[in-house]
Amino acid sequence: MAKKLFLKTLGCAMNVRDSEHMIAELNRIERYDLTQDESEADLIIINTCSVREKPVNKLFSEIGQFVKQKKKSAKIGVCGCTASHLGDEIFKRAPEVSFVLGARNVSKITQAVSTDKFLDININYDESKYAFGEFRQNPYKAYINISIGCDKKCAFCIVPHTRGDEISIPHEIILSEAEKAAKEGAKEIFLLGQNVNNYGRRVGGGKRGEMNFSQLLTLISKIDEVKRIRFTSPHPLHMDDEFLETFSSNPKICKSMHMPLQSGSTQILKSMRRGYTKEWFLERAQKLRQMSPDTAISTDIIVGFPGESEEDFEDTMNVMEEVGFEQIFSFKYSARPLTSAAQMTNIVDAKTASSRLKKLQERHAVLLDKMTPRYKERVFEVYFEELRENGMIAGRTSQNFTVCVNGSEDLLGKIKNVKITRPQRLILYGQVV
Ligand code: 5AD
Ligand code: SF4
Repeated sequence: MAKKLFLKTLGCAMNVRDSEHMIAELNRIERYDLTQDESEADLIIINTCSVREKPVNKLFSEIGQFVKQKKKSAKIGVCGCTASHLGDEIFKRAPEVSFVLGARNVSKITQAVSTDKFLDININYDESKYAFGEFRQNPYKAYINISIGCDKKCAFCIVPHTRGDEISIPHEIILSEAEKAAKEGAKEIFLLGQNVNNYGRRVGGGKRGEMNFSQLLTLISKIDEVKRIRFTSPHPLHMDDEFLETFSSNPKICKSMHMPLQSGSTQILKSMRRGYTKEWFLERAQKLRQMSPDTAISTDIIVGFPGESEEDFEDTMNVMEEVGFEQIFSFKYSARPLTSAAQMTNIVDAKTASSRLKKLQERHAVLLDKMTPRYKERVFEVYFEELRENGMIAGRTSQNFTVCVNGSEDLLGKIKNVKITRPQRLILYGQVV
């Protein structure tokens, strides 16, 4: 009989893919069916994120809940970024946990499950050529890793300490994964890496790769069955002309660009060690708008980084206005262990940081309210991928806007033209035309 697996995934798309990899690996040895009910699970895995403090704090109370609910024989494992950074401490604080597997060690999941108190959090382990088993939760959109780790040393970020140095996955592996997924019906390929447009700088063994990110995008776009390509996350520093040119001119590349700004103040960017200035960011964003006017630009912003003055914050607000981001993900700075910013003493108090976050989000809502009505009557190509309640079905435009129409599951996996009748901030409602 199949075993039951309860798998909770937190964090970014990389983690979502790591979870798929673990499911595939487990199923190589014996069958595991996914369950949403931890009390019937034989195996409970928490795939964690440590980018901000909150989810880390919640981890131990969550493990406590699982211990209470679980079957006596069920094992609990902690994987992912928090596993990498806390390691052995997890066993000490939660003795019921039977294995701890780092974000760069997920290929060892079957070993972890079958060994008592298994611990592997080696961030120098090279999984870049590991041939993972096959499992995809979404048949329409195939997540594919193109690199592991991150070479940047942003002062606020724990990721280089949990995922290790950056290594690009050989393009032959990526291409064959994309071909296979596309032949099985995934019209959209979603390339993943901490720093995708740095692709090819280093492959396993330390050598330079044979192709850069622009060339990789072009190669994947030649697969007939692939209709859409997305990627996350690119770094503003590596948005050179060749990349912007490839992005703008290739019709299969979705017109949605994530440009993580973090701060609009050159001084704060310097102390964050982002490697670009406010001017560089604005120039790249303007060039992108010029070359590809239909592109929607999203961003990540941190407020309250140590030393951020009112003037620095105003710089961030101004860049937001000037670029007119279609979407923002905004966060209050959270000091993370192992990072250089954690040593900084010029802390912004929590109240100021909260009020800046609120101000930023309110200003962005005003921006969105100006942008959204423009989509009325516009026709977008929508790739349908999700059934919603009340007979609605949802999909995405190339710009990554969510569109909902009345329709049945016949639309799933299809790309159709939709005319927008009722545009709202987060969802554009429309009709297939
Ligand atoms: N505090 C707040 N936000 C952070 N991020 C990364 N590290 C921190 C931190 N220490 C945000 C960045 C990044 C996104 C994934 O999370 O904006 O782009
Ligand atoms: Fe993803 Fe970063 Fe969170 Fe790790 S710490 S799960 S890489 S967002």
